[in-house]
Amino acid sequence: MNYPSSKLPQVGTTIFTRMSQLAAEQGAINLSQGFPDFDGPALLKERVCHYLLNGHNQYAPMTGVPALRQAIASKIKSLYSYSANADSEITVTSGATEAIFAAIAALVGPGDEVIVFDPAYDCYEPAISLNGGITHHLPLLPPHFVIDWDRLKDALHRKTRMVIVNNPHNPTGAVFSRADLDTLAELLRGSDTLLLGDEVYEHIVFDGQPHLSLLCHPELAQRSVVVSSFGKTYHTTGWKVGYVVAPALLSAEVRKVHQYLTFSTSTPFQLGLADFLEAEPDHYLQLPNFYQAKRDEFCQLLAGSRFRLTPTRGTYFQLLDYSAISDRVDVEMAEWLTREVGVAAIPISVFYSQPPADLRWLRFCFAKGSETLQKAAERLCKI
Ligand SMILES: Cc1ncc(COP(=O)(O)O)c(C=O)c1O
Repeated sequence: MNYPSSKLPQVGTTIFTRMSQLAAEQGAINLSQGFPDFDGPALLKERVCHYLLNGHNQYAPMTGVPALRQAIASKIKSLYSYSANADSEITVTSGATEAIFAAIAALVGPGDEVIVFDPAYDCYEPAISLNGGITHHLPLLPPHFVIDWDRLKDALHRKTRMVIVNNPHNPTGAVFSRADLDTLAELLRGSDTLLLGDEVYEHIVFDGQPHLSLLCHPELAQRSVVVSSFGKTYHTTGWKVGYVVAPALLSAEVRKVHQYLTFSTSTPFQLGLADFLEAEPDHYLQLPNFYQAKRDEFCQLLAGSRFRLTPTRGTYFQLLDYSAISDRVDVEMAEWLTREVGVAAIPISVFYSQPPADLRWLRFCFAKGSETLQKAAERLCKI
């Protein structure tokens, strides 16, 4: 028989899996894939175990357990002054990845255009393509990786169903200013274009800046589907619990997809997260300081190296410019670094549909203990 041709012919194993595998094979320090090497808060784990051991092991409600939706509503009210109805506007999902897929599948149809900004996180385009949409890539402008507003203005038209914005931005650490939100609102005013806000690093913003969620801006919020992830906030990426906030009519559509994609998300984790959000709101409030100390430590340790850097403004990723060390292309450089130096990183060309020829940056994850950061930096300083 003939098997059907691939619906995603361009897609292979992701660079994150490949680099983590290579790091393991080579015994290299893995600063490639974005996950912490430390555990989540003790009370959170205790609450999850409590529910797991006490009979809360059957399907959760499709939209998420009410206590967790309510806790999310309180959090976004206090942080972003946005009043979401926990029953009709908040949906718990199996990670942000599921939320992003469900939002795109629900809201993007054949022939619809979706604008993404390169370098772009890798799960957007496959979801757009599978649903018949067309991805329109616009480059962010280095060195600060800001949106080129003139190009966005030119690219927007009747068929632009959605613009995807990732703030704080993986892999560059760029964060939105209030002026960015206002300009976005101005450009979209009067159109039916939706926004998908990927805000999984919402609590990892540095140097005293606030996180400016799309939800902070009433005009943008009414056309926005905003996604976040407890995996990033509570050092529990393996749990895959995320959520999506959107006006009721948009949420209703996202839920129709979520209902048949996963139906619901693991019950004891949701109940444990609900308890923890209520018991320790200070945990996410202290996250900027916690990660800023790691960023500063990593950057200081590299001060004597030949890498160039501008301290990242958000996320737990630091870009390092290696142009003073080598003119290898970044994929080769990342492989060389893993094999010969023993430190794995991510080449940022993989986040581009058409990478600029002169990209000489690698992305390093600093969500690691001091000992790991010191060992990695020691090796990087020897090059
Ligand atoms: C920008 C961005 N969006 C979404 C995700 C996926 O989040 P989750 O693990 O909750 O599915 C990640 C994970 O690395 C990410 O970096």
